[in-house]
Amino acid sequence: MRKIRKAVLPVAGAGTRFLPITKSVPKEMLPLIDKPVIHYVVDEAVKSGIEEIILVTGANKNVIKNYFETSPELERFLEEKDKMADLQVLRDISRLCRFSCVLQKKPLGLGHAVLQARDAVGDEPFAVMLVDDIIYSKEAPALKQLLNTYEETGSSVIALQKIPKDKISAYGVADPVWEAGNCRIKSLVEKPSVETAPSDLAVVGRYLLTPAVFDHLERTDRDKSGEIQLTAGLNSLCGEEAMYGCVLEGKRYDCGNRVGFLKACVDFGLLRKDTGNEFREYLKSLDL
Ligand code: G1P
Repeated sequence: MRKIRKAVLPVAGAGTRFLPITKSVPKEMLPLIDKPVIHYVVDEAVKSGIEEIILVTGANKNVIKNYFETSPELERFLEEKDKMADLQVLRDISRLCRFSCVLQKKPLGLGHAVLQARDAVGDEPFAVMLVDDIIYSKEAPALKQLLNTYEETGSSVIALQKIPKDKISAYGVADPVWEAGNCRIKSLVEKPSVETAPSDLAVVGRYLLTPAVFDHLERTDRDKSGEIQLTAGLNSLCGEEAMYGCVLEGKRYDCGNRVGFLKACVDFGLLRKDTGNEFREYLKSLDL
């Protein structure tokens, strides 16, 4: 079985749900305490064994790539001031893994974004990670959980989570069949109505895909809004080769919307050793 070495992170979106801040700060760079959202996703990738991150970027997103590069001036400054702990933090970031960028010239949807990474990925299985979805798991990083299913099945794997019926229309939804303890995907549908949703298992933004997906995405028609949906390409792929679902252990935060982002800020503030105690006391003191 081929090792999964590369992860594609689509970061070209305009972030209109987070205007006005996204006028000048990409939504992937919004901070959860002192680390941008994308840093948590890259940490998850590295902990799962990923060696190269391919950023699919749009205009004004240089700041993302810069964040993961070395910053000689700042490093020199910290060294002179003997701020060695801060220096180590910076150095660790730039050594996380290799980064490359491909440009998505037009915002034609998630499937189109993934397709732009075709040459950079080459002919090998790879991961796709959506930065809006932050998953906190005590068990294992979310992508590692998918890798366990991949190692068992040798097929594409997508992350799933049970979602209350009334929220299901905001997601890709799986039609699963359980075979010998594994969840095989029969089909997928993007943002179905509550009535037509095939299950309550929604697609979460982590995927392990065989390179065959690129041909399927090439053939995928644009939807009503003119976009090429990743889910449509995956639905075509699972008609041709086996695909499995991995029901994730862990709590997912939708950092692509304001309340989801706020929940992540609160929970991460409570979880971190350096902020947890004081922040908990503060929250308890609130007259809510
Ligand atoms: C995207 C995918 C959808 C998936 C969701 C998970 O939708 O198209 O299938 O369920 O991410 O976060 P978006 O949230 O970008 O509308």
